[in-house]
Amino acid sequence: MTPTTEAPVASAPAYSDWQGATGEGWAANAVHYETMLADVGAALLDHAGFAPGERVVEIGCGSGQFARRIAAAVAPDGTVLGLDISPALVQLARQEAAEAGTGNLQILVADAQTAVPPGAPFERLVSRFGVMFFADPAAAMANLHAMLVPGGRLDFAVWAGIEGNPWAGAVMAVGRAHLGLPPREPRAPGPFAFSDEAYLRTLLAGAGFQAVRFTPWQGKVQFGGPGVSAAEAAGLAVAGGTLAGPIQVAGEEVKAALLGDLAARMQPYLTDAGVLVPASVYLVTAAGAGLARAGTELAPG
Ligand SMILES: C[S@@+](CC[C@H](N)C(=O)[O-])C[C@H]1O[C@@H](n2cnc3c(N)ncnc32)[C@H](O)[C@@H]1O
Repeated sequence: MTPTTEAPVASAPAYSDWQGATGEGWAANAVHYETMLADVGAALLDHAGFAPGERVVEIGCGSGQFARRIAAAVAPDGTVLGLDISPALVQLARQEAAEAGTGNLQILVADAQTAVPPGAPFERLVSRFGVMFFADPAAAMANLHAMLVPGGRLDFAVWAGIEGNPWAGAVMAVGRAHLGLPPREPRAPGPFAFSDEAYLRTLLAGAGFQAVRFTPWQGKVQFGGPGVSAAEAAGLAVAGGTLAGPIQVAGEEVKAALLGDLAARMQPYLTDAGVLVPASVYLVTAAGAGLARAGTELAPG
């Protein structure tokens, strides 16, 4: 499938500069972030159980590796449409899909909060850590619901909380200590916007979703492979994350001190296989209002 329509980008997320420094940093280190999120991706794919023939939209598809795995799962007749707000990531995802010869994957620059993707409505929506950055989460969830056929299914992964994700606690601590960043608001757009289960359930219900299920996943995320140093892991934790923008405008001295501090916090997790840090995630499933329910088999499109 070749892209035909560029869905509109109507508003930028209020936090995490995905259209700028964060997106560019993620694109430059895409291989490492895929390694970092590979186990969560495998769990989400298994949980979602895609079937051949389904038409899927991936929200915030990033560099597209996960989208290619879904495309393989729904082939030969199913399709995947990846939406992402970062032009740098969409360019990379398109290039890699073309190189891999993934013909049933289309990728568009779009703000999923407002976009009406060509071909809507779809049977399935999925996202690995791409739904926590919306400036207006209620509007975004309503828009996602509108992308689904009645009874269609939404599956996504979100970070469950900072306590269970010490890599994030470390990044936030050095941001406060060296860049003077304020403590984050619990529900502000960002990696932990949806870590409060009750709040997320209210949001989903308000948008019309039904049969909401939370499945906790606990494992490790990996910052670099065998032979990586704690300093390199610290660089990866910053490059495509919430500090990517602020650190660019900090002086060299501040940057070096921040990275040194973060490396010391990563050091306890250094193993022969890389820097492996405990992670806590929710796999969330919901059904669009209608006859079918999440967890039931969906009719192929
Ligand atoms: C943490 S990254 C995850 C990328 C990819 N899903 C993965 O697992 O590798 C978050 C992604 O969501 C995208 N994103 C953030 N806000 C978005 C929005 N409003 N609409 C579409 N994509 C968005 C970012 O550009 C980025 O690619």
